[in-house]
Amino acid sequence: MGKKRNAGQPSSKTLSKALTGIQGLDEITLGGLPRGRPTLISGGAGSGKTLFGLEFLVRGATQYSEPGVFMSFEETIPDLTKNAASLGFDLDRLVADKKVFLDHVHIARNEIAETGEYDLDGLFIRIADAVQKVGAQRVVLDTIESLFSELPNPGILRAEIRRLFGWLKQKGLTTVITAERDRSDRLTRHGIEEFVSDCVILLDHRIREEISTRRLRIVKYRGSTHGTNEYPFLIDEHGISVLPLSSLGLDHAAPAERISSGIARLDGMLGGKGFYRGSSILISGTSGTGKTSVAAHFVDAACRRGERCLFFAFEESLRQIVRNMRSIGLDLEQWVRKGLLQFHAAGPPMEDLNSTCYKPTRTSPASSPVSS
Ligand SMILES: Nc1ncnc2c1ncn2[C@@H]1O[C@H](COP(=O)(O)OP(=O)(O)OP(=O)(O)O)[C@@H](O)[C@H]1O
Ligand SMILES: [Mg+2]
Repeated sequence: MGKKRNAGQPSSKTLSKALTGIQGLDEITLGGLPRGRPTLISGGAGSGKTLFGLEFLVRGATQYSEPGVFMSFEETIPDLTKNAASLGFDLDRLVADKKVFLDHVHIARNEIAETGEYDLDGLFIRIADAVQKVGAQRVVLDTIESLFSELPNPGILRAEIRRLFGWLKQKGLTTVITAERDRSDRLTRHGIEEFVSDCVILLDHRIREEISTRRLRIVKYRGSTHGTNEYPFLIDEHGISVLPLSSLGLDHAAPAERISSGIARLDGMLGGKGFYRGSSILISGTSGTGKTSVAAHFVDAACRRGERCLFFAFEESLRQIVRNMRSIGLDLEQWVRKGLLQFHAAGPPMEDLNSTCYKPTRTSPASSPVSS
């Protein structure tokens, strides 16, 4: 929105990027993740790291003709396939079509320390083999902590992490590496991964005042400008959607057309013509002052003009609103029946608000007309 997408083919002087296809993310990264380089996705338990990696891979394979390899050091392939299905992705099909290769690597101490020293060469061979099988351009490693969990020596560990990132970069693979954010709020357990990554994205799932919100922040992006805010994001049956609020820009049109508020005297106070079309109107008042009633008049007037209207209600149900508005002479039910008015009544969790307010196409089908 507002900003032009960089389709990953910029001039030779600018960083090449790989579109993720994750809704909203390509806008705040101005074109996706650094192509041919590693990106670290850090987050706490259940923050969406694995699903981020899966969607990056699936979108790459399906939308951008870039096959991918998923190396899981945690979840098994059947588990991954099921998780991906919850986002509407058919991994079995992509694997059968040779667009995605899934590999579950179980790291056991005796396997990695055969020669007495930790060595990533076996892993490199395995990744290279998988990459070659599907001609992969994208790779996901989930998670780096599991990969290195059996390595006690911090000196070797740091060297091996550097070697892994260097190897991936040298192979030109656009890689997503997931990392667990630890309790001390460090981005990664070893505190080195974020320094050797070209791009670091932090996922956060927090509960404040009983409201759950997911947030995403780009901590760093070498060689590129990017949105720096915390952006709310949503996980649902269509994948991840980031809401790039700041990229909306302040370039809205300002129509001169006026529409009725539905209350003749209020229209009179508003220059005799009502609200500007396309404007946002805040009706503020203490409990019982008539906020919903003013809104219902506005809805009624819109439906009378034959315009379609969406009503998002976060406190009362459809039936309560229809009943209560009857007492001030408004029959909203007729507009529901005619298909002009659609109610979306939901409780207050932030994720629901996001999905309902910003993604009307993803909400449940129209509420059925109320029975009187
Ligand atoms: N279809 C869905 N609709 C809504 N939310 C979903 C859906 N599928 C998964 N989730 C959410 O995503 C979370 C899991 O995401 P994911 O497995 O990517 O997290 P993670 O950061 O990898 O977690 P872990 O630290 O356990 O590996 C679930 O806890 C759930 O909240
Ligand atoms: Mg995970």
